[in-house]
Amino acid sequence: MPRSPGSSFPALSPGYCSVRRASPSSLQVPGLPGVYFREETVRLRDRDLNILTASAVDVLASAARGPIPYWPVAWPAGLGLARHLAALDLGGRRVLEVGCGVGIAGLGAALAGAETLVTDTQPPALRLACMNARRSGLSIRAAAADWREWPFRRGADFDLVIGSDVTYEPAAFDALLQVLDDSLRQGGAVLLSDPGRLMTTAFQQRAIAAGWTWSTETLPREGTQSVFLHRLTCRPKTTKECAISCGNNGPETPEGERNQTECQ
Ligand SMILES: C[S@@+](CC[C@H](N)C(=O)[O-])C[C@H]1O[C@@H](n2cnc3c(N)ncnc32)[C@H](O)[C@@H]1O
Repeated sequence: MPRSPGSSFPALSPGYCSVRRASPSSLQVPGLPGVYFREETVRLRDRDLNILTASAVDVLASAARGPIPYWPVAWPAGLGLARHLAALDLGGRRVLEVGCGVGIAGLGAALAGAETLVTDTQPPALRLACMNARRSGLSIRAAAADWREWPFRRGADFDLVIGSDVTYEPAAFDALLQVLDDSLRQGGAVLLSDPGRLMTTAFQQRAIAAGWTWSTETLPREGTQSVFLHRLTCRPKTTKECAISCGNNGPETPEGERNQTECQ
């Protein structure tokens, strides 16, 4: 995988990629007895990726005793974003995915040549994203990271931050916007996809009030689902803002970066 000079991610430690071999039929969705992952073929660019996902969310909903876990499903917005990214040339670019779930959008970025770090608050999601990368012969890195307690040094300097179907929880909007701001390099862009959720409008308003510019295009439908692609760019940061936002005073090796795992 191409890497831009001097931009490799920090040293990794073992952790999230421990599920190395498992037959899909025996791989139960964690916490949901009787629900198993299935194989799904996703065509990205000229490649058929064979990924593991759980079936539709209503299956998860009927099996869940507590809150429904959203991460095991490859959501239509994720598939749409993956196809969009896979068609780009991202060679040498650093891409961060937030709320990766099964990792489909991150795989699209990796297929386009990006050095890709996928993150989610759910460790099983990272294990699955790693498995899906390995099954596809793609290389990504994975790390557990919650927007509300973001473990990375500010100014991580990503060229592109991506996220699909992550703008549905208003209580997390401010934290997510802060993560985007802290992670993006000057001149970088954020690409978020969603199926047209009402809550995305509230997120958009919050983002614009915080100084982001926002534009939306419509991607090809995924099955019966509409998919919208939102592009966010931040106003140029002043030197003072950059000193804060780029974290020049931050710790050199924060815990979150030590906990990244390489998945090949
Ligand atoms: C609807 S799913 C979308 C998954 C994937 N992006 C896709 O499109 O298939 C939302 C994802 O966001 C993650 N998420 C929700 N709140 C989060 C938070 N505070 N920090 C990090 N990830 C979060 C969930 O665990 C889940 O994987």
